[in-house]
Amino acid sequence: MAARTITLHAFRAGTGKTTLLANIAVSLTQQGKRIGIVDADVHAPGLHILFGLPNPRPTLNDYLWDEARLDEIVARFQDDRLPHEIIAVPASSQLDDILRMLREGFDCSLLYTGLRALGERHQLDYLLVDTPPGFHSEALIIAIASNLVLITLPPDEQDLAGTLLLLDAIRRRGEPPTFLLLNKLPAQHGPYGESLVREARARYGLEVMGSVHYEEGVAHLASRGVFALQHPQHPWSQHIDQVAARILDFDFQPGILP
Ligand SMILES: Nc1ncnc2c1ncn2[C@@H]1O[C@H](COP(=O)(O)OP(=O)(O)OP(=O)(O)O)[C@@H](O)[C@H]1O
Ligand SMILES: [Mg+2]
Repeated sequence: MAARTITLHAFRAGTGKTTLLANIAVSLTQQGKRIGIVDADVHAPGLHILFGLPNPRPTLNDYLWDEARLDEIVARFQDDRLPHEIIAVPASSQLDDILRMLREGFDCSLLYTGLRALGERHQLDYLLVDTPPGFHSEALIIAIASNLVLITLPPDEQDLAGTLLLLDAIRRRGEPPTFLLLNKLPAQHGPYGESLVREARARYGLEVMGSVHYEEGVAHLASRGVFALQHPQHPWSQHIDQVAARILDFDFQPGILP
């Protein structure tokens, strides 16, 4: 069976897409699943930083420009605290590559082919894909081809309003199963978190896959590692485990990836 592709997306930058993706990847790996992570946020790459991975050429960019093979761009994250490696595909952090991406974009059909081949070659259970926030056509094309889309949403009226537009943009192109992932909720959110969940249903017709609070420890780590790997028993990491458990329980349907 092909890997299930889960895309993390958001209306604005800085909502915690990359942080949640990295922590969910660790949690799923701790539970024995084979995970691939792909940094398709080619305008502001960063996934390699959380995993302390080097970022040499060739990267995903070269593959998407048809200038490198898939096996040349795969990195492996290994750690004694994990039962096995995580397969990682970093994007380039070279300025010229980022500018070229903004100018030229990339061939989405190559991305589709690459995701499918990556899942098959490494026998992955789940592929987690980070995207450029907002309305970049590449991000929307990745989202609609996914088996599951998680939209990270912090409790801020600008994000709440913009997420409606983002959902509209996705739904004009396709109907991937889409859920919200609330992030950076005030630690003692209690009824506030619950009212956001109700509001998500009323405003977006969307369910919430998980609610994650703002955690000082995550902010202090400042992307210099993956919190759930360093503190697996911490209550914040257990919230991440709950999100991972919802993903494991989710009834995935075949997607439109070729
Ligand atoms: N739940 C949280 N508690 C505290 N800090 C958090 C939390 N989630 C994310 N952060 C912090 O917020 C900042 C932005 O997070 P991150 O880089 O994951 O956002 P992003 O959505 O990937 O941004 P971009 O769209 O620009 O790539 C980081 O410094 C990260 O450590
Ligand atoms: Mg990011």
